[in-house]
Amino acid sequence: MQTYHEFLKEVLIPEAKLKDKVAELGEAISQDYKGENIHLICILKGGVMFLTDLMREITVPHTIDFMAISSYGVGTRQSSGQVRLTMDLHEDIRERNVLLVEDIVDSGNTLSSVLELLATRKPASLKVCTLLDKEERREVDVPLDYVGFKIPNKFVFGYGLDLDEFYRELPFIGVVNEERYTPPK
Ligand code: IMP
Ligand code: MG
Repeated sequence: MQTYHEFLKEVLIPEAKLKDKVAELGEAISQDYKGENIHLICILKGGVMFLTDLMREITVPHTIDFMAISSYGVGTRQSSGQVRLTMDLHEDIRERNVLLVEDIVDSGNTLSSVLELLATRKPASLKVCTLLDKEERREVDVPLDYVGFKIPNKFVFGYGLDLDEFYRELPFIGVVNEERYTPPK
């Protein structure tokens, strides 16, 4: 396996900055949900590292669950507005305070479909926390309650986000070198 270095143009968000931001988000969430329980839902797989770090910064009681969806297929980052559920949640969310934890909001299509689906299950509340917001590419307006970083329109990887399934383990967010890797459309 090749090392990530050749695909890395620059580090966009270093590890220490991610750590500080996750702590800040955890504190804000803990304040807002004081006296309540939260049910954190992570969309596999990109949000996993963010979820597990965020959990350690949330001081109110919380539970977790996972769902998986697919857009067009492997190697795409766009969705048609319709996403396919490939793995559903394991628990009912009715009457629970659901907080959706996402790695990145790009066009907004994924999030918009997931929110629509989850709303039909009548949670007590439904909010969104995303680590990254690529505002410039937004096609659908989606409400974001907690945002870590607004980032420019560049393809990024690391800290849960992949390059063809690899490099999710990197502790920072890096910008891809497009001379060595062509991002999906
Ligand atoms: P959407 O366009 O908001 O529906 O985002 C679809 C999905 O594309 C995200 O959940 C990510 O998995 C993926 N994605 C979007 N931008 C990037 C990126 O810069 N790096 C890695 N994955 C991305
Ligand atoms: Mg994702």
